[in-house]
Amino acid sequence: MHPDCEQVLFYEEEIRRRVRELGEQISLDFKGKKLVVIGILKGSLIFLADLIRFITLPVFIDFISVSSYGKSTRSSGTVRILKDLDLNIRGCHVLLVEDIVDTGLTLNYLKDYMERRRPASFKICALLDKPGRRKVNVAVDYYGFSIPDQFVVGYGLDYNEYYRNLSFLMVLRPEVYEGGR
Ligand code: IMP
Repeated sequence: MHPDCEQVLFYEEEIRRRVRELGEQISLDFKGKKLVVIGILKGSLIFLADLIRFITLPVFIDFISVSSYGKSTRSSGTVRILKDLDLNIRGCHVLLVEDIVDTGLTLNYLKDYMERRRPASFKICALLDKPGRRKVNVAVDYYGFSIPDQFVVGYGLDYNEYYRNLSFLMVLRPEVYEGGR
């Protein structure tokens, strides 16, 4: 058990099973198509790397980076693009991959941003959903797990850039961020 862990939410094996199911579903839904998979940096990194290995279609990978929480566990509500797409997604089948949907502000902004680039189709896949915290409604096509309103880290998700390399998902002990590490 990690010393900063309040509770383990999902172990490696459980995450792997669910990510496999998502990859299989996506492969079926996009059958016969080429897919552009866009990861939102940095939180989606590990999820995306695992997910694409369960997708049995030709995939192009791209990344977009948006302003993050910094050293806070709450969203600022403003979204800024820090790194734009490299690919022109016009006419492409696009799957946007996110680590967690919290207030929904990031995805709401990015959905509009992507759709203005006129892809042939646009879908969203998020590993985690915190429905209790939603401020704007955003239609997510594929979800891994729904979780309560707790701050989680691991499997790509961070607090202050730490914990991304944990292979499981855990709730962070509040003392860690209350102490302002
Ligand atoms: P939203 O715009 O409020 O939906 O925020 C989404 C972003 O907030 C995610 O991409 C994460 O980077 C971050 N975030 C939200 N909740 C958590 C959490 O529990 N742990 C780590 N990051 C989180």
